[in-house]
Amino acid sequence: MPTKKIVIGSDHGGFALKTHLVKFLWEKGIKVLDVGPECSESCDYPIYARKVAEHVRLSGLGILICGTGLGMSMAANRFRGVRAAVCTNEYLARMARAHNNANILCLGERVLGFGLAEGVVDAFLNTKFEGDRHLRRINLIEDITE
Ligand code: RB5
Repeated sequence: MPTKKIVIGSDHGGFALKTHLVKFLWEKGIKVLDVGPECSESCDYPIYARKVAEHVRLSGLGILICGTGLGMSMAANRFRGVRAAVCTNEYLARMARAHNNANILCLGERVLGFGLAEGVVDAFLNTKFEGDRHLRRINLIEDITE
């Protein structure tokens, strides 16, 4: 389990799952920084993607939740050093960490039940990057500037 704070954010479409996961993580003794929003009023997901990405791009892990996870991942991946992955099951979450060194997990509240989302979060947080050939490939992604 990570010792560093997990940074979490959502839009209105992910607010209920964010609230659930903040409690889920605190109950496990994991420190959480919730960058908002504070209520389920309609809002724009890129604003919260930016807040989480700016925390995570240098170190640590984050979670972004919207209706599908898609908008959040598109926005977060615009930040250099961010590797955001939409994961809909535990296998994807493990691979996102082990092979892609993903540092932001994107979830869709309208896609996942809360129980499955907990499993996906656990898989993401408990898997380490394998490095080696995967590091070479990630560095090649970082080289892409077009
Ligand atoms: C909001 O209705 C919805 O579009 C948003 O939460 C997200 O799913 C976008 O990718």
